[in-house]
Amino acid sequence: MNETDTSQETRSPPSGRRVPTSDDLEVSTYLEIAREREGEQPLEKPPEAPPRPETIVILDFGSQYSMLIARRVRECNVYCELVPWDAPWERVRALNPRDFILSGGPASVYDRDAPLAPAYVFETGLPVLGICYGMQLLAHQLGGRVAPSQQREYGHALIRTGDTDSPLFAGLPMSFPVWMSHGDRVIDLADDLEAAEPARLVLEDVDERLADALALLLGVADAGQRVQDTFHRHLRIPLVFVDASDRFLERLAGVTDPEEKRTIVGETFIRVFEEEADKLGRFDFIAQGTTYPDVIESAAGSGAAAKIKTHHNVGGLPREMTFQLVEPLRYLFKDEVRRVGLALGLPEEMVFRQPFPGPGLAIRIIGEVTREKLEVLRSCDWIVMDEIKQAGLYRDLWQAFAILTDSRSVGVMGDFRTYGHVVALRAVTAEDAMTADWARLPYDVLARIAGRIVNEVPAVNRVVYDITSKPPGTIEWE
Ligand code: XMP
Repeated sequence: MNETDTSQETRSPPSGRRVPTSDDLEVSTYLEIAREREGEQPLEKPPEAPPRPETIVILDFGSQYSMLIARRVRECNVYCELVPWDAPWERVRALNPRDFILSGGPASVYDRDAPLAPAYVFETGLPVLGICYGMQLLAHQLGGRVAPSQQREYGHALIRTGDTDSPLFAGLPMSFPVWMSHGDRVIDLADDLEAAEPARLVLEDVDERLADALALLLGVADAGQRVQDTFHRHLRIPLVFVDASDRFLERLAGVTDPEEKRTIVGETFIRVFEEEADKLGRFDFIAQGTTYPDVIESAAGSGAAAKIKTHHNVGGLPREMTFQLVEPLRYLFKDEVRRVGLALGLPEEMVFRQPFPGPGLAIRIIGEVTREKLEVLRSCDWIVMDEIKQAGLYRDLWQAFAILTDSRSVGVMGDFRTYGHVVALRAVTAEDAMTADWARLPYDVLARIAGRIVNEVPAVNRVVYDITSKPPGTIEWE
Protein backbone atom coordinates (compact mmCIF):
# COMPACT_ATOMS: atom_id res chain seq x y z
CA MET A 1 0.00 0.00 0.00
CA ASN A 2 1.05 3.57 -0.49
CA GLU A 3 3.19 4.43 2.49
CA THR A 4 3.34 8.14 1.85
CA ASP A 5 -0.42 8.44 2.00
CA THR A 6 -1.24 9.70 5.47
CA SER A 7 -4.78 10.76 4.71
CA GLN A 8 -6.10 7.21 4.77
CA GLU A 9 -7.80 7.52 8.16
CA THR A 10 -9.80 10.54 7.19
CA ARG A 11 -10.84 9.01 3.90
CA SER A 12 -11.76 5.49 4.96
CA PRO A 13 -15.14 5.22 6.62
CA PRO A 14 -14.90 4.32 10.31
CA SER A 15 -15.83 0.71 10.89
CA GLY A 16 -19.49 0.24 11.65
CA ARG A 17 -20.50 2.94 9.20
CA ARG A 18 -22.03 2.08 5.91
CA VAL A 19 -19.58 1.84 3.03
CA PRO A 20 -20.93 3.69 0.00
CA THR A 21 -20.91 1.69 -3.20
CA SER A 22 -20.75 2.71 -6.79
CA ASP A 23 -24.50 2.24 -7.02
CA ASP A 24 -25.21 4.86 -4.39
CA LEU A 25 -25.59 7.55 -6.94
CA GLU A 26 -27.94 5.40 -8.96
CA VAL A 27 -30.11 4.65 -5.94
CA SER A 28 -30.32 8.28 -4.88
CA THR A 29 -31.35 9.15 -8.43
CA TYR A 30 -34.15 6.57 -8.22
CA LEU A 31 -35.33 8.09 -4.99
CA GLU A 32 -35.27 11.55 -6.45
CA ILE A 33 -37.34 10.49 -9.44
CA ALA A 34 -39.85 8.86 -7.12
CA ARG A 35 -40.12 11.95 -4.90
CA GLU A 36 -40.59 14.19 -7.87
CA ARG A 37 -43.40 12.00 -9.05
CA GLU A 38 -45.02 12.38 -5.67
CA GLY A 39 -44.94 16.15 -6.11
CA GLU A 40 -41.85 16.99 -4.08
CA GLN A 41 -39.74 19.73 -5.57
CA PRO A 42 -36.19 18.67 -6.41
CA LEU A 43 -33.55 20.28 -4.21
CA GLU A 44 -31.81 23.23 -5.82
CA LYS A 45 -28.45 21.77 -5.05
CA PRO A 46 -28.36 18.00 -4.82
CA PRO A 47 -26.91 16.69 -1.55
CA GLU A 48 -23.24 15.94 -1.80
CA ALA A 49 -22.43 12.37 -2.62
CA PRO A 50 -20.77 10.50 0.25
CA PRO A 51 -16.98 10.42 -0.03
CA ARG A 52 -15.79 7.51 -2.12
CA PRO A 53 -13.82 4.92 -0.26
CA GLU A 54 -10.47 4.00 -1.65
CA THR A 55 -10.83 0.80 -3.55
CA ILE A 56 -8.54 -2.03 -4.45
CA VAL A 57 -9.46 -2.63 -8.04
CA ILE A 58 -9.24 -6.25 -9.13
CA LEU A 59 -9.01 -6.65 -12.89
CA ASP A 60 -10.70 -9.90 -13.80
CA PHE A 61 -8.98 -11.88 -16.52
CA GLY A 62 -11.51 -14.69 -16.30
CA SER A 63 -10.25 -16.94 -13.55
CA GLN A 64 -12.93 -19.08 -11.93
CA TYR A 65 -11.37 -17.90 -8.66
CA SER A 66 -11.39 -14.13 -9.18
CA MET A 67 -14.13 -13.76 -6.64
CA LEU A 68 -12.01 -15.44 -3.99
CA ILE A 69 -9.43 -12.71 -4.36
CA ALA A 70 -12.14 -10.14 -3.69
CA ARG A 71 -13.26 -12.16 -0.68
CA ARG A 72 -9.82 -12.33 0.85
CA VAL A 73 -9.37 -8.57 0.44
CA ARG A 74 -12.77 -7.88 2.01
CA GLU A 75 -11.92 -10.18 4.89
CA CYS A 76 -9.13 -7.74 5.71
CA ASN A 77 -11.86 -5.05 5.94
CA VAL A 78 -10.56 -3.36 2.81
CA TYR A 79 -13.06 -2.32 0.17
CA CYS A 80 -12.48 -3.77 -3.30
CA GLU A 81 -14.38 -4.28 -6.51
CA LEU A 82 -13.93 -6.72 -9.33
CA VAL A 83 -14.05 -5.16 -12.81
CA PRO A 84 -13.51 -6.61 -16.29
CA TRP A 85 -9.88 -6.63 -17.42
CA ASP A 86 -10.65 -4.07 -20.13
CA ALA A 87 -12.63 -1.66 -17.92
CA PRO A 88 -12.10 1.87 -19.23
CA TRP A 89 -10.14 4.30 -17.07
CA GLU A 90 -13.25 6.47 -16.44
CA ARG A 91 -14.94 3.55 -14.73
CA VAL A 92 -11.86 2.64 -12.72
CA ARG A 93 -11.07 6.21 -11.76
CA ALA A 94 -14.59 6.57 -10.35
CA LEU A 95 -13.70 3.82 -7.88
CA ASN A 96 -10.83 5.86 -6.46
CA PRO A 97 -8.29 3.10 -6.96
CA ARG A 98 -5.60 2.56 -4.40
CA ASP A 99 -3.96 -0.61 -5.75
CA PHE A 100 -4.53 -3.02 -8.57
CA ILE A 101 -4.71 -6.78 -8.47
CA LEU A 102 -4.55 -8.63 -11.78
CA SER A 103 -6.40 -11.93 -11.49
CA GLY A 104 -5.59 -15.24 -13.11
CA GLY A 105 -7.33 -16.38 -16.27
CA PRO A 106 -7.52 -19.13 -18.85
CA ALA A 107 -5.42 -17.38 -21.54
CA SER A 108 -1.71 -17.62 -22.19
CA VAL A 109 0.18 -14.34 -22.66
CA TYR A 110 1.29 -15.57 -26.07
CA ASP A 111 -2.23 -16.30 -27.35
CA ARG A 112 -3.12 -14.21 -30.35
CA ASP A 113 -5.88 -12.25 -28.61
CA ALA A 114 -4.50 -12.54 -25.11
CA PRO A 115 -6.11 -9.92 -22.85
CA LEU A 116 -3.51 -7.42 -21.65
CA ALA A 117 -3.43 -5.13 -18.63
CA PRO A 118 -4.56 -1.61 -19.65
CA ALA A 119 -1.91 1.11 -19.71
CA TYR A 120 -3.37 2.94 -16.68
CA VAL A 121 -2.33 0.02 -14.47
CA PHE A 122 1.28 1.01 -15.05
CA GLU A 123 0.85 4.74 -15.62
CA THR A 124 -0.90 5.51 -12.32
CA GLY A 125 2.16 4.32 -10.42
CA LEU A 126 -0.08 2.48 -7.92
CA PRO A 127 1.09 -0.85 -6.48
CA VAL A 128 0.12 -3.85 -8.62
CA LEU A 129 -0.17 -7.46 -7.56
CA GLY A 130 -0.36 -10.13 -10.26
CA ILE A 131 -1.72 -13.59 -9.56
CA CYS A 132 -1.16 -16.52 -11.95
CA TYR A 133 -1.99 -15.11 -15.41
CA GLY A 134 -1.87 -11.63 -13.87
CA MET A 135 1.67 -12.26 -12.72
CA GLN A 136 2.66 -13.63 -16.13
CA LEU A 137 1.20 -10.50 -17.71
CA LEU A 138 3.28 -8.25 -15.47
CA ALA A 139 6.39 -10.10 -16.53
CA HIS A 140 5.37 -10.12 -20.19
CA GLN A 141 4.28 -6.47 -20.41
CA LEU A 142 7.23 -5.14 -18.43
CA GLY A 143 9.96 -6.91 -20.31
CA GLY A 144 10.29 -10.27 -18.56
CA ARG A 145 9.81 -13.67 -20.19
CA VAL A 146 7.05 -16.27 -19.89
CA ALA A 147 7.23 -19.79 -21.33
CA PRO A 148 5.08 -22.90 -21.36
CA SER A 149 6.03 -25.30 -18.56
CA GLN A 150 7.21 -28.76 -19.44
CA GLN A 151 4.63 -29.96 -17.06
CA ARG A 152 1.25 -28.34 -16.64
CA GLU A 153 0.37 -28.21 -12.97
CA TYR A 154 -3.17 -28.85 -11.78
CA GLY A 155 -4.41 -29.63 -8.30
CA HIS A 156 -2.55 -29.76 -5.04
CA ALA A 157 1.10 -28.77 -4.78
CA LEU A 158 3.47 -27.80 -2.00
CA ILE A 159 4.97 -24.31 -1.81
CA ARG A 160 8.27 -23.78 -0.06
CA THR A 161 8.84 -20.17 0.94
CA GLY A 162 12.50 -20.83 1.71
CA ASP A 163 14.59 -18.55 3.81
CA THR A 164 13.14 -15.09 3.31
CA ASP A 165 12.20 -12.15 5.48
CA SER A 166 9.96 -10.58 2.82
CA PRO A 167 6.89 -9.08 4.51
CA LEU A 168 4.77 -10.86 1.92
CA PHE A 169 5.55 -14.12 3.69
CA ALA A 170 5.12 -12.81 7.22
CA GLY A 171 3.19 -15.30 9.31
CA LEU A 172 3.33 -18.07 6.72
CA PRO A 173 4.95 -21.43 7.45
CA MET A 174 8.12 -22.51 5.59
CA SER A 175 6.00 -24.73 3.38
CA PHE A 176 2.28 -25.09 2.84
CA PRO A 177 -0.15 -26.76 0.41
CA VAL A 178 -1.58 -24.71 -2.47
CA TRP A 179 -4.01 -25.28 -5.30
CA MET A 180 -2.33 -25.03 -8.70
CA SER A 181 -3.90 -24.57 -12.08
CA HIS A 182 -1.52 -23.33 -14.72
CA GLY A 183 0.48 -24.24 -17.80
CA ASP A 184 2.87 -21.25 -18.22
CA ARG A 185 5.61 -19.96 -15.96
CA VAL A 186 7.76 -16.86 -15.65
CA ILE A 187 11.35 -17.64 -16.58
CA ASP A 188 12.79 -14.14 -16.50
CA LEU A 189 11.65 -11.22 -14.38
CA ALA A 190 11.76 -7.67 -15.59
CA ASP A 191 14.14 -5.63 -13.41
CA ASP A 192 11.38 -3.90 -11.44
CA LEU A 193 9.47 -7.03 -10.73
CA GLU A 194 11.19 -8.75 -7.86
CA ALA A 195 8.14 -8.71 -5.62
CA ALA A 196 5.72 -10.32 -8.01
CA GLU A 197 6.77 -13.94 -7.62
CA PRO A 198 6.42 -14.14 -3.83
CA ALA A 199 3.10 -12.35 -4.11
CA ARG A 200 1.83 -15.00 -6.45
CA LEU A 201 2.90 -17.69 -4.06
CA VAL A 202 1.02 -16.09 -1.21
CA LEU A 203 -2.19 -15.60 -3.11
CA GLU A 204 -2.17 -18.94 -4.83
CA ASP A 205 -2.92 -20.33 -1.44
CA VAL A 206 -6.49 -20.08 -2.53
CA ASP A 207 -8.76 -21.83 -0.20
CA GLU A 208 -11.27 -24.00 -2.03
CA ARG A 209 -14.25 -23.22 0.08
CA LEU A 210 -16.60 -20.39 -0.68
CA ALA A 211 -20.24 -18.42 -0.69
CA ASP A 212 -23.38 -16.82 -2.17
CA ALA A 213 -26.64 -14.99 -2.22
CA LEU A 214 -29.55 -13.82 -0.23
CA ALA A 215 -32.25 -14.46 -2.79
CA LEU A 216 -35.78 -13.19 -2.46
CA LEU A 217 -37.30 -14.57 -5.62
CA LEU A 218 -39.59 -17.39 -4.68
CA GLY A 219 -40.75 -18.78 -7.99
CA VAL A 220 -41.76 -22.42 -7.68
CA ALA A 221 -40.22 -21.97 -4.35
CA ASP A 222 -40.21 -23.25 -0.85
CA ALA A 223 -42.48 -22.96 2.14
CA GLY A 224 -44.38 -19.76 1.41
CA GLN A 225 -45.92 -19.98 4.87
CA ARG A 226 -42.57 -19.65 6.63
CA VAL A 227 -41.67 -16.55 4.65
CA GLN A 228 -45.06 -15.01 5.38
CA ASP A 229 -44.62 -15.61 9.10
CA THR A 230 -41.24 -13.95 9.10
CA PHE A 231 -42.59 -10.85 7.44
CA HIS A 232 -45.67 -10.56 9.62
CA ARG A 233 -44.20 -11.55 12.95
CA HIS A 234 -40.73 -10.03 12.84
CA LEU A 235 -40.86 -7.21 10.39
CA ARG A 236 -44.54 -6.27 10.64
CA ILE A 237 -44.49 -5.64 6.91
CA PRO A 238 -47.72 -6.47 5.11
CA LEU A 239 -46.91 -9.18 2.64
CA VAL A 240 -49.10 -10.13 -0.27
CA PHE A 241 -48.84 -13.83 -0.89
CA VAL A 242 -49.73 -15.07 -4.34
CA ASP A 243 -50.04 -18.72 -5.19
CA ALA A 244 -49.05 -18.71 -8.85
CA SER A 245 -48.05 -22.36 -8.91
CA ASP A 246 -50.53 -23.24 -11.68
CA ARG A 247 -49.02 -20.63 -13.91
CA PHE A 248 -45.45 -21.70 -13.23
CA LEU A 249 -46.31 -25.35 -13.78
CA GLU A 250 -48.11 -24.61 -17.01
CA ARG A 251 -45.10 -22.76 -18.36
CA LEU A 252 -42.74 -25.48 -17.20
CA ALA A 253 -44.77 -28.37 -18.64
CA GLY A 254 -42.64 -30.58 -20.84
CA VAL A 255 -39.46 -28.52 -20.26
CA THR A 256 -36.38 -30.47 -19.21
CA ASP A 257 -33.47 -28.19 -20.12
CA PRO A 258 -32.01 -26.58 -16.96
CA GLU A 259 -31.26 -23.20 -18.55
CA GLU A 260 -34.72 -23.05 -20.08
CA LYS A 261 -36.28 -23.78 -16.69
CA ARG A 262 -34.26 -20.96 -15.11
CA THR A 263 -35.37 -18.44 -17.73
CA ILE A 264 -39.01 -19.51 -17.53
CA VAL A 265 -39.09 -19.15 -13.75
CA GLY A 266 -37.38 -15.73 -13.85
CA GLU A 267 -39.71 -14.45 -16.54
CA THR A 268 -42.92 -15.83 -15.02
CA PHE A 269 -41.95 -14.45 -11.63
CA ILE A 270 -41.62 -10.94 -12.97
CA ARG A 271 -44.84 -11.10 -14.95
CA VAL A 272 -46.80 -12.25 -11.89
CA PHE A 273 -45.08 -9.59 -9.84
CA GLU A 274 -46.00 -6.87 -12.33
CA GLU A 275 -49.63 -7.92 -12.43
CA GLU A 276 -49.97 -8.08 -8.66
CA ALA A 277 -48.21 -4.75 -8.21
CA ASP A 278 -50.63 -3.22 -10.73
CA LYS A 279 -53.56 -4.28 -8.56
CA LEU A 280 -52.08 -2.45 -5.58
CA GLY A 281 -51.29 0.86 -7.22
CA ARG A 282 -48.22 2.26 -8.79
CA PHE A 283 -44.73 0.99 -8.03
CA ASP A 284 -41.58 2.15 -9.72
CA PHE A 285 -39.00 -0.08 -8.15
CA ILE A 286 -38.35 -3.68 -7.43
CA ALA A 287 -35.85 -4.35 -4.66
CA GLN A 288 -33.85 -7.50 -4.83
CA GLY A 289 -31.34 -9.10 -2.50
CA THR A 290 -28.67 -9.66 -5.12
CA THR A 291 -25.27 -10.02 -3.50
CA TYR A 292 -21.78 -9.66 -4.91
CA PRO A 293 -21.24 -13.32 -5.83
CA ASP A 294 -24.47 -13.20 -7.89
CA VAL A 295 -23.10 -10.27 -9.79
CA ILE A 296 -19.76 -11.91 -10.37
CA GLU A 297 -21.08 -15.37 -11.17
CA SER A 298 -23.56 -13.99 -13.66
CA ALA A 299 -20.40 -12.92 -15.49
CA ALA A 300 -21.25 -9.26 -15.39
CA GLY A 301 -17.48 -9.24 -14.95
CA SER A 302 -15.00 -9.97 -17.64
CA GLY A 303 -16.70 -12.04 -20.27
CA ALA A 304 -13.37 -13.85 -20.25
CA ALA A 305 -14.70 -16.53 -17.90
CA ALA A 306 -16.71 -19.51 -19.10
CA LYS A 307 -20.41 -19.25 -18.28
CA ILE A 308 -21.51 -22.20 -16.18
CA LYS A 309 -25.11 -21.21 -15.44
CA THR A 310 -27.40 -18.26 -16.01
CA HIS A 311 -26.90 -17.67 -12.43
CA HIS A 312 -28.99 -16.23 -9.73
CA ASN A 313 -31.43 -13.43 -9.67
CA VAL A 314 -29.46 -11.32 -12.08
CA GLY A 315 -29.38 -13.62 -15.08
CA GLY A 316 -32.88 -15.01 -14.65
CA LEU A 317 -34.78 -11.73 -14.96
CA PRO A 318 -36.21 -10.70 -18.32
CA ARG A 319 -34.69 -7.73 -20.10
CA GLU A 320 -37.98 -5.85 -20.41
CA MET A 321 -39.44 -4.98 -17.02
CA THR A 322 -41.73 -2.15 -15.98
CA PHE A 323 -39.77 -1.76 -12.73
CA GLN A 324 -36.39 -0.30 -12.08
CA LEU A 325 -34.21 -2.69 -10.20
CA VAL A 326 -32.73 -1.64 -6.84
CA GLU A 327 -30.17 -3.97 -5.33
CA PRO A 328 -28.85 -2.44 -2.12
CA LEU A 329 -26.69 -5.45 -1.20
CA ARG A 330 -25.14 -5.78 -4.60
CA TYR A 331 -21.59 -5.18 -3.44
CA LEU A 332 -21.64 -7.29 -0.29
CA PHE A 333 -20.72 -10.90 0.27
CA LYS A 334 -23.13 -13.16 2.10
CA ASP A 335 -21.32 -13.00 5.42
CA GLU A 336 -21.19 -9.22 5.14
CA VAL A 337 -24.94 -9.17 4.45
CA ARG A 338 -25.44 -11.34 7.51
CA ARG A 339 -23.47 -8.88 9.62
CA VAL A 340 -25.61 -6.04 8.31
CA GLY A 341 -28.72 -8.07 9.17
CA LEU A 342 -27.56 -8.64 12.74
CA ALA A 343 -26.60 -4.98 13.11
CA LEU A 344 -30.13 -4.06 12.01
CA GLY A 345 -31.53 -6.32 14.70
CA LEU A 346 -33.13 -8.86 12.38
CA PRO A 347 -33.91 -12.22 13.97
CA GLU A 348 -31.06 -14.76 13.77
CA GLU A 349 -33.40 -17.33 12.28
CA MET A 350 -33.82 -15.06 9.30
CA VAL A 351 -30.24 -13.87 9.05
CA PHE A 352 -28.78 -17.38 9.10
CA ARG A 353 -31.35 -18.98 6.88
CA GLN A 354 -29.62 -21.16 4.29
CA PRO A 355 -29.66 -19.80 0.73
CA PHE A 356 -32.38 -20.93 -1.61
CA PRO A 357 -31.95 -20.57 -5.37
CA GLY A 358 -34.13 -18.15 -7.31
CA PRO A 359 -35.48 -20.83 -9.67
CA GLY A 360 -36.51 -22.80 -6.59
CA LEU A 361 -37.32 -26.48 -6.65
CA ALA A 362 -37.54 -26.34 -10.45
CA ILE A 363 -33.76 -26.88 -10.58
CA ARG A 364 -33.85 -29.61 -7.93
CA ILE A 365 -36.23 -31.78 -9.90
CA ILE A 366 -34.27 -33.34 -12.71
CA GLY A 367 -36.34 -33.45 -15.88
CA GLU A 368 -39.88 -32.15 -16.16
CA VAL A 369 -41.40 -30.37 -13.15
CA THR A 370 -44.87 -31.53 -12.13
CA ARG A 371 -47.04 -30.86 -9.10
CA GLU A 372 -46.70 -34.47 -7.95
CA LYS A 373 -42.92 -34.31 -8.10
CA LEU A 374 -42.96 -31.02 -6.19
CA GLU A 375 -44.99 -32.65 -3.42
CA VAL A 376 -42.57 -35.58 -3.23
CA LEU A 377 -39.55 -33.29 -3.11
CA ARG A 378 -41.07 -30.99 -0.48
CA SER A 379 -41.78 -33.95 1.78
CA CYS A 380 -38.18 -35.18 1.44
CA ASP A 381 -36.76 -31.72 1.98
CA TRP A 382 -38.78 -31.23 5.11
CA ILE A 383 -37.30 -34.42 6.58
CA VAL A 384 -33.76 -33.36 5.65
CA MET A 385 -34.18 -29.98 7.38
CA ASP A 386 -35.84 -31.49 10.41
CA GLU A 387 -33.02 -33.99 10.97
CA ILE A 388 -30.25 -31.51 10.23
CA LYS A 389 -31.72 -29.04 12.71
CA GLN A 390 -32.25 -31.70 15.35
CA ALA A 391 -28.62 -32.77 14.98
CA GLY A 392 -27.58 -29.13 15.56
CA LEU A 393 -25.88 -28.95 12.14
CA TYR A 394 -27.95 -26.28 10.40
CA ARG A 395 -25.56 -23.39 10.94
CA ASP A 396 -22.45 -25.44 10.11
CA LEU A 397 -23.73 -26.18 6.62
CA TRP A 398 -23.93 -23.81 3.71
CA GLN A 399 -26.91 -25.75 2.43
CA ALA A 400 -28.59 -29.12 2.92
CA PHE A 401 -31.40 -30.26 0.65
CA ALA A 402 -32.91 -33.07 -1.38
CA ILE A 403 -32.90 -33.52 -5.14
CA LEU A 404 -35.46 -35.58 -6.99
CA THR A 405 -33.48 -37.43 -9.65
CA ASP A 406 -35.05 -38.77 -12.83
CA SER A 407 -33.93 -42.31 -11.97
CA ARG A 408 -36.08 -45.05 -10.55
CA SER A 409 -34.93 -48.12 -8.77
CA VAL A 410 -36.24 -51.47 -7.68
CA GLY A 411 -36.70 -52.12 -3.98
CA VAL A 412 -38.56 -54.37 -1.62
CA MET A 413 -40.97 -53.21 1.07
CA GLY A 414 -43.05 -55.54 3.19
CA ASP A 415 -42.29 -58.42 0.80
CA PHE A 416 -43.55 -56.45 -2.16
CA ARG A 417 -41.52 -55.19 -5.07
CA THR A 418 -41.32 -51.42 -5.34
CA TYR A 419 -40.18 -49.30 -8.24
CA GLY A 420 -39.72 -45.83 -6.84
CA HIS A 421 -37.90 -42.54 -7.20
CA VAL A 422 -34.25 -42.12 -6.29
CA VAL A 423 -33.69 -39.07 -4.09
CA ALA A 424 -30.24 -37.55 -3.68
CA LEU A 425 -29.18 -35.76 -0.56
CA ARG A 426 -26.83 -32.80 -0.92
CA ALA A 427 -25.16 -31.15 2.07
CA VAL A 428 -22.22 -28.82 1.57
CA THR A 429 -19.91 -26.57 3.51
CA ALA A 430 -18.81 -23.36 1.80
CA GLU A 431 -17.77 -19.79 2.46
CA ASP A 432 -19.10 -18.16 -0.66
CA ALA A 433 -20.49 -21.01 -2.80
CA MET A 434 -17.93 -20.43 -5.55
CA THR A 435 -16.32 -23.56 -4.19
CA ALA A 436 -17.85 -26.04 -1.80
CA ASP A 437 -17.10 -29.36 -0.20
CA TRP A 438 -19.54 -32.14 0.58
CA ALA A 439 -20.27 -32.21 4.28
CA ARG A 440 -18.95 -35.16 6.27
CA LEU A 441 -22.33 -35.71 7.92
CA PRO A 442 -22.32 -38.26 10.75
CA TYR A 443 -23.46 -41.71 9.57
CA ASP A 444 -26.28 -41.81 12.08
CA VAL A 445 -27.70 -38.53 10.75
CA LEU A 446 -27.50 -39.91 7.19
CA ALA A 447 -29.15 -43.13 8.34
CA ARG A 448 -32.02 -41.28 10.03
CA ILE A 449 -32.64 -39.09 6.99
CA ALA A 450 -32.61 -42.01 4.56
CA GLY A 451 -34.75 -44.18 6.84
CA ARG A 452 -37.37 -41.51 7.32
CA ILE A 453 -37.55 -40.54 3.64
CA VAL A 454 -38.08 -44.10 2.48
CA ASN A 455 -40.64 -44.76 5.20
CA GLU A 456 -42.52 -41.49 5.13
CA VAL A 457 -42.51 -40.63 1.41
CA PRO A 458 -44.23 -43.47 -0.43
CA ALA A 459 -42.99 -42.58 -3.93
CA VAL A 460 -39.33 -42.84 -2.90
CA ASN A 461 -37.54 -46.12 -2.28
CA ARG A 462 -33.85 -45.15 -2.39
CA VAL A 463 -31.68 -42.34 -1.03
CA VAL A 464 -28.12 -41.62 -2.18
CA TYR A 465 -25.63 -39.10 -0.79
CA ASP A 466 -23.79 -36.76 -3.16
CA ILE A 467 -20.06 -36.75 -2.36
CA THR A 468 -18.94 -34.37 -5.12
CA SER A 469 -17.14 -31.15 -4.27
CA LYS A 470 -17.43 -27.91 -6.27
CA PRO A 471 -15.55 -27.86 -8.54
CA PRO A 472 -15.93 -30.17 -10.39
CA GLY A 473 -19.62 -30.38 -9.42
CA THR A 474 -21.88 -27.41 -8.69
CA ILE A 475 -23.98 -27.19 -5.54
CA GLU A 476 -27.32 -27.46 -7.30
CA TRP A 477 -27.68 -30.29 -9.76
CA GLU A 478 -28.96 -28.09 -12.57
P1 XMP B 1 -24.22 -23.61 -7.83
O1 XMP B 1 -25.27 -24.65 -8.11
O2 XMP B 1 -23.92 -22.78 -9.03
O3 XMP B 1 -24.88 -22.64 -6.77
O4 XMP B 1 -22.98 -24.18 -7.22
C1 XMP B 1 -24.19 -21.76 -5.94
C2 XMP B 1 -25.17 -21.12 -4.97
O5 XMP B 1 -26.11 -20.31 -5.67
C3 XMP B 1 -27.43 -20.79 -5.47
N1 XMP B 1 -28.05 -20.73 -6.80
C4 XMP B 1 -28.89 -19.77 -7.17
N2 XMP B 1 -29.40 -18.73 -6.48
N3 XMP B 1 -30.61 -18.07 -8.41
C5 XMP B 1 -30.26 -17.88 -7.11
O6 XMP B 1 -30.75 -16.94 -6.48
C6 XMP B 1 -30.13 -19.10 -9.17
O7 XMP B 1 -30.44 -19.23 -10.34
C7 XMP B 1 -29.22 -19.99 -8.50
N4 XMP B 1 -28.55 -21.10 -8.90
C8 XMP B 1 -27.84 -21.52 -7.84
C9 XMP B 1 -27.29 -22.20 -4.95
O8 XMP B 1 -28.39 -22.58 -4.16
C10 XMP B 1 -25.99 -22.11 -4.18
O9 XMP B 1 -26.18 -21.59 -2.88
